[in-house]
Amino acid sequence: MTVSDLFEPLPLLHGRPMRNRIMLAPLVTQQSEHDGSASPFDKDWYRQVADAGYALVQTGATTVEASGIAYGRQLGIHSDAHLPGLTEIAKSIREGGALSAVQLHHAGHRANPLLGGIPAPASRHTIPGIAALSIDEIERIRDSFITAAQRAEQAGFEGISIHGAFGWILSEFMSPMLNDRTDQYGGSIENRARFTIEVIEGIRAHTNPDFQIGWRLSIERYGLRLEELREITGEILDREIIDYLDLALWDSNQIVQEGSYQGKSMLSVFTSLPRKRVRVGAAGKIKSAQRAAEVMEEGADYVLIGRAGILERDFPRLLQADHHHVSPPIPVTAKYLRDTGLSERFINHLRGWPYFVRPEH
Ligand SMILES: Cc1cc2nc3c(=O)[nH]c(=O)nc-3n(C[C@H](O)[C@H](O)[C@H](O)COP(=O)(O)O)c2cc1C
Repeated sequence: MTVSDLFEPLPLLHGRPMRNRIMLAPLVTQQSEHDGSASPFDKDWYRQVADAGYALVQTGATTVEASGIAYGRQLGIHSDAHLPGLTEIAKSIREGGALSAVQLHHAGHRANPLLGGIPAPASRHTIPGIAALSIDEIERIRDSFITAAQRAEQAGFEGISIHGAFGWILSEFMSPMLNDRTDQYGGSIENRARFTIEVIEGIRAHTNPDFQIGWRLSIERYGLRLEELREITGEILDREIIDYLDLALWDSNQIVQEGSYQGKSMLSVFTSLPRKRVRVGAAGKIKSAQRAAEVMEEGADYVLIGRAGILERDFPRLLQADHHHVSPPIPVTAKYLRDTGLSERFINHLRGWPYFVRPEH
């Protein structure tokens, strides 16, 4: 793979193709209104990234239920009241020429009660005094993911991406540490993956034939087991029930430290699976076209850009214009971020990330 391959189009199973191999990673910005409606700052941010040259722009984690909230001022898609703002965002992204998606999120046991969240654990032992979700509640949340996807479609988004990473509800159910259920949603990996698969299949059944479905998976922490995740991913790829898989690595170069894949790159554990027509991408410290080409050389079809896309709004265009361009080092000052066009709300959110915003004295 060479750098110029980054700018080759990539057909997806449904809908329009990606125009190149660079996708904006989902990024929570904490700049929405308190009820989850898109604020002028959200609209501004998505307008900026819509014009940056990405193949696909997705929202940050967006709540499918008010009770599944994790962050203050998190974008919402749990009510029809969110439609006008989301419609504007989808329109800007389309006008910029990228595909659009909403990242569908429910925080599960990590829902924040201070924000109206109701912790929704898979197991009764996860949070003392809080019962495990009943089957009815699981079905309700599954249906909220499906309704949210329909709402995304109504707003004009070309797809959704299901947040199955970082211990949030779907990844929580996948984990033998956080899921000790003995019903059809617990026990074997097939049962622990049932929630995810029902969400994917439900969305496919209730949206138009062109609608695109992405699935974000993380592998580390929360008691997740690599071998099991590989097995279930293999099944999802083989059944072609998603358009793209997004491996949420913090470092796309990460090496497996234990178990049967010890010494191999995490990426290769997944890119070595037969994937039929499903596309596989990865995030994690991709700061240059050279690094992106290496990730594709390891078998990824596309890359996701997170922090580099915050530091330079038109990062894909910069890579295309100069194949040697490298994202600036972090931390940066708040002034730097402000000058790139970020809102104070977003900058405040970034202050919570390690090594991002240099403290001012
Ligand atoms: C400010 C910020 C917000 C993020 N928000 C989300 C999010 O809403 N959903 C998600 O799945 N990942 C989120 N992530 C993780 C990124 O999508 C990405 O996977 C990670 O930052 C690694 O890519 P990078 O090295 O290019 O930043 C966030 C990361 C950052 C830095």
